[in-house]
Amino acid sequence: MNSESTPVCEFTAFAKAWLRAPLKVGSIVPSGPVLAKAITSEITASTGPVLELGPGTGVFTKALLARGVAAENLTLLEYDPKLAKLLSARFPNVRIVSACATKLSSLGLFDESGVAAIVSGLPLLSMPQNVIHSILKGSFEQLREGGAIYQFTYRPLCPVPRKVMNDLDLKSVCTSFSMRNLPPAWVFAIRKRGPHSEVRA
Ligand SMILES: C[S@@+](CC[C@H](N)C(=O)[O-])C[C@H]1O[C@@H](n2cnc3c(N)ncnc32)[C@H](O)[C@@H]1O
Repeated sequence: MNSESTPVCEFTAFAKAWLRAPLKVGSIVPSGPVLAKAITSEITASTGPVLELGPGTGVFTKALLARGVAAENLTLLEYDPKLAKLLSARFPNVRIVSACATKLSSLGLFDESGVAAIVSGLPLLSMPQNVIHSILKGSFEQLREGGAIYQFTYRPLCPVPRKVMNDLDLKSVCTSFSMRNLPPAWVFAIRKRGPHSEVRA
């Protein structure tokens, strides 16, 4: 399989991953190109290193490469080893790590300059609060100042619980809504609050 793999191969690989771990995969079909374009829209060739969490079959990876992100500037972190193997075949020049996103801090993937942006396909709505806290904490340890995590969700609310947002001093803004995705999806950009941001209870 390469980056031009057929949709049928992609759907089959994704559905098999869902059968192996329905809660971890969170959806029976991969995201579509409209959502992929929306979630990557603020990232350009000059953004710098980008980390993708939960890439699945690589729909967002393909969009990131199409936006000019260099393959050597891209790191994918995928929990499912079979999907990680498929990604390696599809994107031979991209760094692919098969590990859980909760382990991000201990993987030593980046130098002290960190990453400029994170794109997340993780199914946060099916994760317990402590797991989300751990993933977000580790992610912001890697993110450069001002950098964002771009996260999609199937509800019109940021999928990070309010307590986690407050504990980690985060704010979110909805950047897009993709009606032409199955199911329709919203994208949120999550960033550290500035020094004068209001803290919500
Ligand atoms: C909803 S799918 C999204 C896949 C792809 N980004 C898309 O939109 O089609 C979630 C992906 O996150 C991966 N995943 C779930 N939990 C994870 C974790 N803790 N660490 C790394 N990857 C994880 C799953 O294996 C799956 O590939």
